[in-house]
Amino acid sequence: MKKYTEINDIKNIPQTITEAIALKKAPFEHKSLGKNKTLVMLFFNASLRTRLSTEKAAKNLGMDVICLQISNSWNLEFEDGTVMNLSTSEHIKEAAKVIAQYADIIAVRAFPTLKDKELDYAEVIMNSFSKYADVPVVNLESSTAHPLQALADAITINEFNSDAIPNVVLSWAPHPKALPQSVANSFVNMMQKLPVNLTITHPEGYELSTEITKDTQVSYDQEEALKNADFVYVKNWSSYTDYGQILSQDSDWMITQHKLNNAKFMHCLPVRRNVVVEDAVLDSDNSLVINQANNRTYAAQVVLKNILENL
Ligand code: CP
Repeated sequence: MKKYTEINDIKNIPQTITEAIALKKAPFEHKSLGKNKTLVMLFFNASLRTRLSTEKAAKNLGMDVICLQISNSWNLEFEDGTVMNLSTSEHIKEAAKVIAQYADIIAVRAFPTLKDKELDYAEVIMNSFSKYADVPVVNLESSTAHPLQALADAITINEFNSDAIPNVVLSWAPHPKALPQSVANSFVNMMQKLPVNLTITHPEGYELSTEITKDTQVSYDQEEALKNADFVYVKNWSSYTDYGQILSQDSDWMITQHKLNNAKFMHCLPVRRNVVVEDAVLDSDNSLVINQANNRTYAAQVVLKNILENL
């Protein structure tokens, strides 16, 4: 693996899942691989799981880790040819090259504006680091994708699945804030590459990009979609068509124990209790959210290991 900015960077997903599960059993087996190698993590936004699990993964491989919250640094400029006489102090052309001198791998988290669809879906920040930093780049959640989360989710489904082809449902749920489509996009992208029967359910107006959904089944009837589900992945996202808008806060879409029946509940976290999902679900044995968060370490570790092996 040369980089991990998108799921397509994984050549063989089932093999990568198997390798991640092996790393989970023996996390320190490759402790010498990252010796004298540095991971620089750059956060344009807040994080709990991604920040900690990626650092833990890198340290399991013997890497040194440097983390920078970008709000504590200079305001970066991403446009070419700009007269920088306003709020930005440093151009990405210099910043990325400078950071690359301190890093063997750069990992970046940069959320979307949710105001400018073209800008967000052009992945300007992630692509600028890939363009100007001559070291591998890892996506810690970008404007439109969260590939490390999707890999952790695939590992979790693999661990808990007992059917040849499980029924997996991605359900939209209400949220008071406008959230990115990134987790939903990457989850759909990942499930399309695995032997699962995937259905997406959401209210009208919350259609994801057709470039993401392709021929995946979409239903506006949550109750119908949840019938016979083995895994229910719940996530809010703001509208793609009416870009970044909250079109509904209908609490009837909240996931309840009654709706879930015997299916396993999944969410990337953080989750708002009794808005997205009721307490009874999160507090039940059917909730996999803690397992998913644990697998973030091994998703990151298998990615870093594969990149280190190709440096
Ligand atoms: N799921 C996830 O990416 O969590 P954080 O935002 O806390 O990193």
